[in-house]
Amino acid sequence: MDKPHQAMPDIEVLPSYFPIPGMGFLPVNAFVIKAREPVLVDTGMGIESDEFMNALESIIDPQDLRWIWLTHDDADHTGSIQKVLEAAPSARLAANSLAVLRMSTAWPVPMHRVYWLNSGDSISVGDRKLTAVRPPLFDNPTTIGIYDNKSEAFFSADFLGAITPARTQNADNITEGGLAQGMISWASADSPWVHRVTPGEFNQSLDRIRQIAPKMVFSAHLPPARGNTEQLLKLIATVPTSTPFVTPNQTALEQLLAQGRDGN
Ligand SMILES: [Fe+2]
Ligand SMILES: [Fe+2]
Repeated sequence: MDKPHQAMPDIEVLPSYFPIPGMGFLPVNAFVIKAREPVLVDTGMGIESDEFMNALESIIDPQDLRWIWLTHDDADHTGSIQKVLEAAPSARLAANSLAVLRMSTAWPVPMHRVYWLNSGDSISVGDRKLTAVRPPLFDNPTTIGIYDNKSEAFFSADFLGAITPARTQNADNITEGGLAQGMISWASADSPWVHRVTPGEFNQSLDRIRQIAPKMVFSAHLPPARGNTEQLLKLIATVPTSTPFVTPNQTALEQLLAQGRDGN
């Protein structure tokens, strides 16, 4: 993981990166919203759980957390969920009901601590309202992003993610071409169903985000993006007609393994 950093006065980023051979890095972010009732958004990757807990503790005493919001139950968002629940006994777990039921097949989710949310539902966290928003692209039926009405930020879950050429704290540091290529590849790989959607229908779903007009986008898979929501939406609007992403096959795996053996 990289060092946590403050992206807005009351929003901290816990950034990590998953290397994608031959392509770059997939950012994997969790966030802390320092609301009157502090909120952790997602819990990182399990493979670096110790690091994640240290990073979290460097930002906030987990005992002070009042909410843990899971955008969905994929492994890159739930890596430290059990540890966080243990370290944060006053926190409730806000998630879609299906996410909770699916996680319950793997570990005993404490149901008395759970708060079930559908898209459009809100919770008050003292100084602001957090509203669940289903993003236009998602790879998991339990996905709920967040609109924070105080910071006017949109936490978009997997939506607007990108495979980035380098590790950076700010989406502005990525060239326009690099961002376009990385974002379209990610969207096509993560939500392959988008190629079955007409561009017009897809644009309508993007209009819902245009109406919200967030000042800041916090994707789980993009460095924080300030003030360029329209540019990001324009880029992503081209995904339905882009060339579908083809996942690497066995030949590619054998090449990777051979490169590893050769030390290249
Ligand atoms: Fe996901
Ligand atoms: Fe993800």
